[in-house]
Parts: sequence; C-alpha cells; structure tokens
Amino acid sequence: MTTAQSKDVQARSGSYTVAVALVAAVGGLMFGYDIGVISFAKEGVKNAFKLGTFEIEVVVAAVLAGSFAGAIVAGKLCDRIGRRWTNVWGGILFAVGCLGCSLSYDFWMITAFRIMMGLGVGFSSVAGPLYIAEIAAPWSRGAMVSLYQLAITLGILIAFLIGLAMPDLWRIHFGIGIVLGLGLVFGMLVMPPSPRWLVGRGRVDTALGVLKRTTGSDTAAKSELEAIKVRVKEEAGEHLLTELSRSPAVRRALFLAFGLALLQQFSGINAIMFYAPEILKEIGLVKHEYLLTAMIGVVNVLATFIAIWLVDRLGRRVLLLAGTSLMMLSQIGIGIFAFWIPTGAAAADGTGSVPMAGIFALVMIFLAIIAFAFSLGPLVWLVISEIFPAGVRSACVGVATAANWTGAFIVALFTLTVLENKSLGTSSVFWIFAGSNIVAIIFIYLKLPETKGAKLEDIEGFFSAKNSKSARDHS
Ligand code: BGC
Repeated sequence: MTTAQSKDVQARSGSYTVAVALVAAVGGLMFGYDIGVISFAKEGVKNAFKLGTFEIEVVVAAVLAGSFAGAIVAGKLCDRIGRRWTNVWGGILFAVGCLGCSLSYDFWMITAFRIMMGLGVGFSSVAGPLYIAEIAAPWSRGAMVSLYQLAITLGILIAFLIGLAMPDLWRIHFGIGIVLGLGLVFGMLVMPPSPRWLVGRGRVDTALGVLKRTTGSDTAAKSELEAIKVRVKEEAGEHLLTELSRSPAVRRALFLAFGLALLQQFSGINAIMFYAPEILKEIGLVKHEYLLTAMIGVVNVLATFIAIWLVDRLGRRVLLLAGTSLMMLSQIGIGIFAFWIPTGAAAADGTGSVPMAGIFALVMIFLAIIAFAFSLGPLVWLVISEIFPAGVRSACVGVATAANWTGAFIVALFTLTVLENKSLGTSSVFWIFAGSNIVAIIFIYLKLPETKGAKLEDIEGFFSAKNSKSARDHS
C-alpha cells in the first residue's frame, strides 16, 4: 500500500472507529453524570430527608459501592454475553436507578437506587473502555480510549450545569440521567460486537467483517484477524486465578493496573468533584461556589483534549509523570493557601469579600484539575484496557476497575468528615492527596512500560521479566 493509500485507509477506518467509540463513550457520560449530579443534588436531598453529614456521605458513596459490585460482575459478563451487551445492561440499570432516585421518599430508598445507578456505571466502566480498546486500531487507541474520559468529564459538566440552572430541583437532576442510560442502551444495540470477543466465541467470519470496517482494509483486517486467532487459541481456557499463579507477566500487569486504579482515586480528584462547593466555601469563596464548581467542570473537559491530542504522540509515561507531578505541586499549593484562611472567613466577615489566599488556592485547584485531566484521568483507563492478554483481559479489567471504585468510595466517605473537622481541615485533605501523588509518581516511573502504538497482542510481552525493564527504558 502506498503512503497516500494507507493515510486514506486510516482516515476511513478512523471515522468508523470514532463513531463506535462515541457510542461506547455514552457510558462515560453516565459515569460522569453520576459523579457530578450529587455535587449539587446533595443539598436538596439533605434538606428533603433531614440528613446529617454521615448520611449524606453514605448517599454520595452508595453509588460507588454499586459501581464496585458492578465492575466485579462485569468482568465475567463481558466474557459471557460480550462487551456490547454488558454495556446495554449497564444502561438499563442506570436508567432504572435514576428513575428510582428521582422518585425517592426517604434516605433508604435513595441509597438503594443510588446503588443501582452505580451497578450500571460499574458495568459500563469495565465494558466501555474494553470495547473501545478492542475496536480501535493501534495508532489511535490512546485517543479513542481518551474519548471515554472526555465523555466522563462532559457528563460531570452536564450535571454541574443542570445543577446550576435549577439548583433546588434535585429530582429532575436524577431524572435527566434516564436519558443517558437509554442512550447507551439504544446506541450499543446498533454497534458491532468486539472482534476479539467474537473470535473467542468462534464467530470468525463476523469478526473479519467488523475488522474490515475498523481497519478500513481487507489485508489489514485479515492480518489482524490472524494475530487475534493465534492469541485467542493460546489463551483459550485461561482463568484468572490459574494465570495469576502461572504467569508472572499477568501478575505484573495486574499489580500495575490495580495500583494505577487506586492511585487515580487517591490523587484526590473526586474530593473536588464530589465536594467542590464545600471546599470552595472553606477557602472563603462563599456566594460563588456553585458557579466556580461549574467552571471546574468546564476546565476538566477542555484539558482532556490535551491528552487526546498528545497521548499517541508523546506516549503514556511522559503525560502521566508530568500530570501527576503538576497535580501534586498544585495540591501542596492549595494546602498552603488554605492554611492561611480562617475557616468560614468570608461568611464570617459578612461582606462576601474573598481572601487573597482563597483566590490563589482557587488557581491551584484549577491547575490540579488540568493536570489530572491530561494524565491520570484518561491514561489510567487506557493503560488498564490495553495491558492484559485477551484470555484474562475482562476479568483483570474488572478487578482493576473495582479497585478504582473502592478508592472513590473511601474518598467520598471520608473527605467531608476531614474537611469539617476543625483541627484537620482543608489543608490536611490536600496534603494527604499530595503525599499519595508522590507515591503515584514513583510507582508510574518504576512500573509502567510505554505502550504507545503497540498492538494489543504484543503488549503482554512487555511484562515478561526480560522485557519489562527495556520497555520502560525504551520510552
Ligand atoms: C475518574 C473519575 C473522576 C473523573 C474526573 C475519571 O477518570 O475515574 O473518578 O471523577 O475522571 O474527570
């Protein structure tokens, strides 16, 4: 094939893959919406059901408990019914969960339906990135999976904007989520199944048809099909536990994914996403907290484009190391500036004037969001979806995703308590997260091989003992 032809093939297959990825990314919208919605809705829920701090933390965290359970189950489901149908079920559960939340009449009912929303998001948080990574071509996989993250950030933003537009109508906030759930259901029903899953099920001809469309060329489709067939044959009958005891490469990859998933949450991103209004009040930005929360949502979306643009050019390691370092420095800054602000300063002085240190802390919050959005946000989902051999991929992605939700659960459950504790306060929250980001930097530096541009079928080789160091040094 000439260079011009191959460019044409890339462009044609690219638009098809983008379309497929966009539909799968509706799951990302759901994911983001369920994180963002509670930031505004919790005030209304709190007043409606007369809830205290801990009960509110439970309502916030319930969705994450559901997502944890959903992610574990989804690992298996992705193999049994396929990535596409797991996404469809994710959409159904989410839509029903949202409906239930919007009709809730007490703490228990809203908690139960928040868990159901979470189950749906848990399903799609495993099946979405997996499906996209398996459909995308190696040269665009980074950007395609980053689309999923872009959708998460858009979901958060939509939720923030709806919250801002109708702050008291929390039932409607949840009700709008139904549209996203149904969008995923109907969108996924018209999409093709993942070729790797099809081959695993013996449906080789259908897989070839899908590959022809995603690669844009018969020759490329056939060669990719052969590579998948070889791998699937080698990996037939693999079970996670047997593979973990047998293969150091799978153990290394799972350790990496598990670590990244947890560290993404302990970076503290969701302390901001869930509790931005409370944090902004604490640093003296009373009266502006909701508008600023929405601006955080906007910045989060925009900065994700940096990752989409750079991830397949610069690679995963550079972006992750740069972003995590910037986030850590910004959080140290937030801690320092917040330290200078007496709790509830602006509220107490009654004039609504904003302390200077509060403005600096705010700038640091924006920097931390930008840093996360071009690094840990998209790249953790990308790495998790690309480093496992096909035979155990969905089970491993399920385990790592469940670890991510566990981290989010812990952050949701304790942040407010620490924020509201007079002797700890805002500074301590951010210093704790900065400490965790130092661990993340070291972990990424030591453990993450560069996977930019590599075929999924080749990446598992990066984790064999002799290759893992050279893959890292090579980057
Ligand atoms: C994380 C979410 C987070 C979001 C923020 C995602 O990658 O997994 O927990 O809320 O990014 O944009």
